[in-house]
Amino acid sequence: MNITFIGSGYVGLVSGTMLAELGHNVTCLDTNAAKIADLKKGILPIYEPGLDQYLASNMANGRLTFSSTYDAQLKESSAVFITVWTPTLESGEADLSFIFDAVDNLIPFINDDCVIVIKSTVPPGTCGKVSDMLKARNLNYAVASNPEFLREGSAIADFISPLRIVVGSSNPNAKKVLEEIYAPQTSKGFLLINTDPATSELIKYASNAFLATKLAFINEIANLCEKIPANIEELTHAMGLDPRIGKEFLKAGPGFGGSCFPKDILALSTIAKNYKTDFQVLDAVINSNKQRPSFMVEKIKNILGTLQDKNIAVLGLTFKANTDDIRSSPAIDIINLLIQEKANILSFDPEGMDNARAILKSVSFANSSAEACVNADGLIILTEWEEFKNMNFKEIYNSMKNPVIIDLRNILKRDVLTNIGFEYHSVG
Ligand code: UGA
Repeated sequence: MNITFIGSGYVGLVSGTMLAELGHNVTCLDTNAAKIADLKKGILPIYEPGLDQYLASNMANGRLTFSSTYDAQLKESSAVFITVWTPTLESGEADLSFIFDAVDNLIPFINDDCVIVIKSTVPPGTCGKVSDMLKARNLNYAVASNPEFLREGSAIADFISPLRIVVGSSNPNAKKVLEEIYAPQTSKGFLLINTDPATSELIKYASNAFLATKLAFINEIANLCEKIPANIEELTHAMGLDPRIGKEFLKAGPGFGGSCFPKDILALSTIAKNYKTDFQVLDAVINSNKQRPSFMVEKIKNILGTLQDKNIAVLGLTFKANTDDIRSSPAIDIINLLIQEKANILSFDPEGMDNARAILKSVSFANSSAEACVNADGLIILTEWEEFKNMNFKEIYNSMKNPVIIDLRNILKRDVLTNIGFEYHSVG
């Protein structure tokens, strides 16, 4: 099947490449000509483990191509997926102008049976609005919602083994086309759920909001653990054994970030307000997570004392491991607060430093995690990169001025570190 993706950001690139891997002929279109020129050379604008190999192999077999212009090749497409971004407006709502622009731009080129699929995260009712906009122009294209549930850092595995594929459309042709597109997965037993567009759109927000709620909850339980004291790791292990709770997303830490949760929960809260339904739980989650960085810095100050002129080693800049994404990363917020306290920051991240350099002007960057720790008055772990677990801690102990570790991701082994001589603090 011929498919075009409009928007070659994170979602468009991963989904487009992987639909090519499933056997479809995919064109990823983006009006950013420089990005497309790079992609044509096999250069990815993002770091996502495994994506480069799938990109290269599907470009080589001719199933994956790139374009920076809306043109005749769109005529051959049975479906056009819109994967443009939906940034947050000042009102808290998602900005849908990029979606409507994309629809405007593609209409002159597509064939009558082409299905317009909205994959970007959009408020319930957006597919309806797009249909209305088309009908007002006497156009009858089928519009469907097909939200994505890919996690950065494990997007390839998430695509290959989806927990569910959600399709929202009342149009029989749209359902048929999407069922055909995902047939390689449904034939393996992966579940495709058909629903109406608004429910499909809300499934995406509700899923992210529920996960964010779980995280805010466990972070606050961690606060309580610190006061009592009780052990958050043993607590979450025991809680997670109950399948009604589940063991995933119970890792306490410096707060959740990324390009999805903070944006989507704000959008959902605003959607609820627009429908005159205050989403009080979600508002509490938003506030709880907003306060998390300053809460973490208070904790650091309680351990290290005044931070003025102290050398602080910071390991981890990205919002989670296995990505180069620093958008809404709690690490960045925490570093900015440490800078306000007049600390000297030397940081290291395996993938996030190029992005961080652009926004953290007064931070120094080391060439390795070990180098970041030399002469430090304290080491703070902010992202759960695997390589931070396997550092040579004896060497680090000898190189630090004050061997104190504050592990805000709970990834290190207390016993090992205290045996070496470190003072070790974790979350909860
Ligand atoms: C999230 C969802 O998990 C995906 O299902 C969804 O498709 C995606 O948003 C999206 O809307 O596009 P992602 O933002 O990549 O995926 O990252 P997550 O793995 O969900 O992590 C979000 C944040 O929660 C990170 O800052 C992470 O460090 C934090 N987190 C996660 C914890 O602090 N503890 C945990 O136990 C899990």
